[in-house]
Parts: sequence; structure tokens; C-alpha cells
Amino acid sequence: MTTLRPTLNSHSTIMKYAILLTSLLLTPAISFADDAAKAKLMEAGKAAYMTCAACHGMDGAGVAAGPKKMAPALGASKIATGDPAVLALVIHNGIAKETQDYLGMMAPLGAALDDEKLASVMTYVRNSFGNTASVVTAEDVKKYRAANATITGPVTRAKIDELEKAAEKK
Ligand code: HEC
Repeated sequence: MTTLRPTLNSHSTIMKYAILLTSLLLTPAISFADDAAKAKLMEAGKAAYMTCAACHGMDGAGVAAGPKKMAPALGASKIATGDPAVLALVIHNGIAKETQDYLGMMAPLGAALDDEKLASVMTYVRNSFGNTASVVTAEDVKKYRAANATITGPVTRAKIDELEKAAEKK
């Protein structure tokens, strides 16, 4: 049995090198493709964000309107950086106006944004204004729209909280 050991060991050493070499060769290619896809989404997202900037501001801080703001800040927003399905729902359906905290209204914008545009604007707000969160693709958006299809009309804050809590438990 002892004679078998060196053979096994050298075999596994070769395997280790083969795996290492393969991962060394593949890793830069994969991350380069990811970086390029993200850069493209960010660029398109910045352009699509013009729709949001009127209320949320180019700096994402919320445009000041006298003592109030048009809309809340998107930097450090739990909704912007949290479960992307909830963010997609908020942008798609809008938020029910229950208070006078903000002068503006979060209108349903889903119909105005195709899957690519919604994915890019989501990626942009998730990775701007100090935010860092996952990239969202058009394929993801398709899934979120389908999953959210039963929820009609602007969502209430209570509904948003409920969905976020459910997502955290997943
Ligand atoms: C006409 C003004 C207006 C525009 C345009 C607008 N929003 Fe909003 N948005 C609001 C207001 C007002 C709220 C707060 C709603 C409330 O609580 O009543 C809000 C809330 C949000 C929130 C929830 C933030 C939080 O943490 O509470 C997100 C995320 C958001 N908007 C994203 C967007 C994105 C992305 C766009 C562009 C595609 C956009 N909004 C366009 C006015 C606007």
C-alpha cells in the first residue's frame, strides 16, 4: 500500500495545480466581464436617473423646496440598497401618498421604464451617493415584475416594511 501513496500524492498535486491554473486563467476574465457589464449599467443608469433627479436631486440628497424636500435622500436609503425586488416594486408602482413629509409624490414609473432602463437606474442608485449594493440586470427586473404583478397600485409604507422584513428572513 505504501507504494501507492506517492502516485496518489503526485496525482492530487497535479490536480491542485490544474485547478489553480484554471482559476487563475478564468478569474480575471469573469471579473473583467462583470466590471464591463456594471460600467455599462451605471452609464445607462446615470442617464435614466434624470427622470428621478427632479425630485431626488443629481446628488441623491433630495431637492430642497423651502423648509421641506421634494423627495427623500437615496444615499443610505434602506429601500435603495435593500432587497432589489422591493426597490423594483417601489419604482414600478410608486408609493401611496400618506403624509405631507415631502412636496413631491413617488409616482408609478414602471410603465415608462423598460427592463434595461429599470435595471440600469436601479444599479445606479444602488451604487451612487455612497451606496454599495448588488448590480441589477434586465433579466432580474423581468423576474421582479412577474413576482410583483399581483401587487397593484402605489404601495404603502406598511407594505414596503412587510416585504422588506419577509426578504430579510429569506
Ligand atoms: C415627482 C417626484 C419624484 C420623482 C420624479 C421620483 N421620485 Fe422617488 N420619491 C418621491 C417621493 C415624494 C418619495 C417619498 C414618498 C412618500 O413617502 O410619500 C420617493 C421615494 C422614493 C424611494 C424610497 C426612498 C426611501 O428610502 O424612503 C425610492 C427608492 C425612490 N423614490 C426612487 C426613485 C427613482 C429611482 C426614481 C426615478 C426612476 C424616482 N424615485 C423618481 C418623489 C419622486
